[in-house]
Amino acid sequence: MEQIICRLEEITEHGGISFNYTQCGESREGFVLVYQGQLRAYVNSCPHTGVTLNWSENQFFDYSQQFIQCSVHGAIFQPLTGACVRGPCLGQNLSPLEVKLDDQQLVLILDE
Ligand code: FES
Repeated sequence: MEQIICRLEEITEHGGISFNYTQCGESREGFVLVYQGQLRAYVNSCPHTGVTLNWSENQFFDYSQQFIQCSVHGAIFQPLTGACVRGPCLGQNLSPLEVKLDDQQLVLILDE
């Protein structure tokens, strides 16, 4: 199953866009970002407690603009791998989502 998320130009470098999707009959939230010219998407859920990561709507990066940072306890994640490199969930990972670029539109790809 595929779902259009947004157009590529809507995402700024070091920005992100959150979106909702349904999987296994459950409504879930994800986010997509562009970092160093590469697209990544993750489930919007901190491995520490499961809360959403963003500070405000579509703000996922820390002050340095180099890392994703959880707004609750400050865990730091590598944007390109989703690995937690500092904080209470050190060594754990954000859950990746599969996305593709199709005619300048970002498309989420979900297993049936
Ligand atoms: S909830 Fe994200 S670091 Fe604690």
